[in-house]
Amino acid sequence: MSSDRATNGSSGGEGPSRSARSHVERFRVMEVIDAAAARQASHGDMISLSAGQPSTGAPAPVLAAAKAMLDEHILGYTPTPGIAELRARIAELHETRYGYTVDPDSVVITTGSSGGFTALFLAAFDPGDTVALARPSYPAYRNTLAALGCEVVEFDPVDTERFQPSVDDLERLTSELGAPPAGLVIASPANPTGAIIGEDELAGIAHWCDEAGTLLVSDEIYHGISFGRRCASAWEFSRNAAVIGSFSKYFSMTGWRIGWMLVPAGLREAVDVLLGNLSICAPANSQYAALGALGRDAAAELDGHVERYAENRDLVVGRLDELGMPLIAQPDGAFYVYVDVSAHTSDSLAWCREVLGATGVALTPGVDFDQRGGATTVRMSFAGDAESISIALGRLEEFLAR
Ligand SMILES: Cc1ncc(COP(=O)(O)O)c(C=O)c1O
Repeated sequence: MSSDRATNGSSGGEGPSRSARSHVERFRVMEVIDAAAARQASHGDMISLSAGQPSTGAPAPVLAAAKAMLDEHILGYTPTPGIAELRARIAELHETRYGYTVDPDSVVITTGSSGGFTALFLAAFDPGDTVALARPSYPAYRNTLAALGCEVVEFDPVDTERFQPSVDDLERLTSELGAPPAGLVIASPANPTGAIIGEDELAGIAHWCDEAGTLLVSDEIYHGISFGRRCASAWEFSRNAAVIGSFSKYFSMTGWRIGWMLVPAGLREAVDVLLGNLSICAPANSQYAALGALGRDAAAELDGHVERYAENRDLVVGRLDELGMPLIAQPDGAFYVYVDVSAHTSDSLAWCREVLGATGVALTPGVDFDQRGGATTVRMSFAGDAESISIALGRLEEFLAR
């Protein structure tokens, strides 16, 4: 990879040329979303099983808080780590969910979890540092780390039921690399699989990372959406880990762009300085509105969404075998199934385009999540309503029977 500046030897007059670091993979799911929108505009029959977001809006108390806020606040900048009340309420949320105490000073409010990742990676890693990811995983980790000059090392976990990493994987990777990685990013429930890492496995990984001096980055943004298996949090086992949270998924506030991090003490100053420079603060309006998401009334509404996701999950999982699209991993949480479409294609991106063209159903090709095996995999989201999902599955069945 080299910059256009270096290769052109451009000395001006040709407009700006891009940096070498900007040559990261496109986030393919966005292309699918654009193609799906075009299908809807031209045919009006599109059903999306591709969106990685709830089909619902923010809960009623958030909307009420947002309306009141316009009268009550001038909405200037907030302190960089966020308004004190929200930081305190998030500390309480962690205490209620997992039973551990959190000093509100370790809570940092971010612009979606995405804004948190960038600041955290910059704070913790230098160019050339190795950061490990299990395959498959959320593509923005790989692409953001690559843009920051980190050496991304992907590995295939030995656990082929859930594709979650284990201590054995980390030992093997360390002997291959000759040293432990500087960082390990994990997600549970994961995107694209929905698989939840076991409590004992997470404890083992957290302790291993402590010993090895590896920063464990635990993406917990799908917590709250699980179907029977417990979501453990990395801070149950180590305060050296960074925990990532978001209002985008369980709290159904994707476009409000608000998330948070629990930052280990040694990185707090660096994260604060970087976030102050990168974004000053997370959107003030979303910070005040998010307070409404953390009360009992919102929980009742949001838990209702999770019940619907659970029904949708059963509906989808029940049909996959008939469709010749077997599950790759256990969908314990989030709102995705990751399926094997090798019986139908060896080019999942082209196949998703074909399916969209023939049926109006939008699916996400696996290539985003796994550059090695993703050509024969697809992610389906069941965040929508059951009726649309049933219709989409019916259309897929017809398509596959042709
Ligand atoms: C695993 C995972 N992490 C992080 C994100 C980013 O979410 P946000 O920036 O909306 O919090 C996503 C979005 O789909 C995701 O799936």
